Amino acid sequence: MDSEIKTRKKVTVAGAGNVGTTTAQLIAEKDLADVVLIDIVDGIPRGKALDILEACPLWHSSAKVTGTNSYDDTADSDVVVITAGLARKPGMSRDDLLQANARIVTQVARDVAKTSPQAIIIVVTNPMDAMAHVVLQASGFPRNRVIGMGGVLDTARMRSFIALETNTHPGDIKAIVLGGHGDLMVPVPRLTMVGDKCITDILPETEIRQIIERTKNGGAEIVGLLKTGSAYYAPAASTVEMIEAMFGIKNEPLPCSVYLDGEYGINGVYVGVPVKLGPDGLQEIIEFDLAEDEKQALDASADAVRQLIKKLQV
Ligand code: APR
Repeated sequence: MDSEIKTRKKVTVAGAGNVGTTTAQLIAEKDLADVVLIDIVDGIPRGKALDILEACPLWHSSAKVTGTNSYDDTADSDVVVITAGLARKPGMSRDDLLQANARIVTQVARDVAKTSPQAIIIVVTNPMDAMAHVVLQASGFPRNRVIGMGGVLDTARMRSFIALETNTHPGDIKAIVLGGHGDLMVPVPRLTMVGDKCITDILPETEIRQIIERTKNGGAEIVGLLKTGSAYYAPAASTVEMIEAMFGIKNEPLPCSVYLDGEYGINGVYVGVPVKLGPDGLQEIIEFDLAEDEKQALDASADAVRQLIKKLQV
């Protein structure tokens, strides 16, 4: 009914592959929203959605989960997560996916703009920062409603490695990773805390350097082991963390890829920085002073994203 106040959120997940279905599963398990899974392949989104729906009674979740090949069924989504595209194979960098995934996310963004003109889009498809730029252009949405998922994942990876190394609960570890979601990401050890202690006070520099390298290599390490695809549990959980912040369930700032317009002295490019998310997507970019080497590393990372955008000529 038109007069009915809409309270139940609707999240569309474009791409019913590994990341997309795991994201849908987590949303349903947490009963955050109704979920629509959409894919170009016939049957798969409906089959996966049905399987997740049938698990909902066991999770005490009332989420309605459906699958489709038509954007009409995704209409008026509050959030659209784009995972559609190709995943990495061993030996491939995220950047190798550039042209093919740009074509795919362009089409998805256009369809989303038509059917869910007020949605917030979370871009997961790699190379993520460049794909967020493509989605911004193709959707015509303002920058607060097109946000990339990368920093939350990189930070989670770093926290998990620190937890292993220090035998601490990962919940007690705070870390921050800035920059693009690629080889030039910028972990910031001086702001990485284990309890109330800075990591630089409890681990030797060589071990911190190894953790940083493993974090930068986190995606490739998993691709190397899986051989036929890339990571999906932590990427999906990171995406859901962002959705929970948008829905007001969580309140902590998160490192996300956003289109910078002078913040951190960077212009016209998507890059990971700490932000506050809310019901309109990007609520606030949190700026803090960077040390000279951190600023240089962030600039280099932003430049690498710019180079990809140049190759795409968008
Ligand atoms: N519209 C909708 N879905 C599409 C489209 C499209 N135009 N093109 C491809 N897809 C679907 C594929 O059919 C497939 O089901 O996207 C899905 C991708 O799933 P996987 O191959 O399992 O890839 P996944 O591991 O989920 O990764 C997806 O996220 O983390 C990134 O690097 C990763 O770019 C990759 C993306």
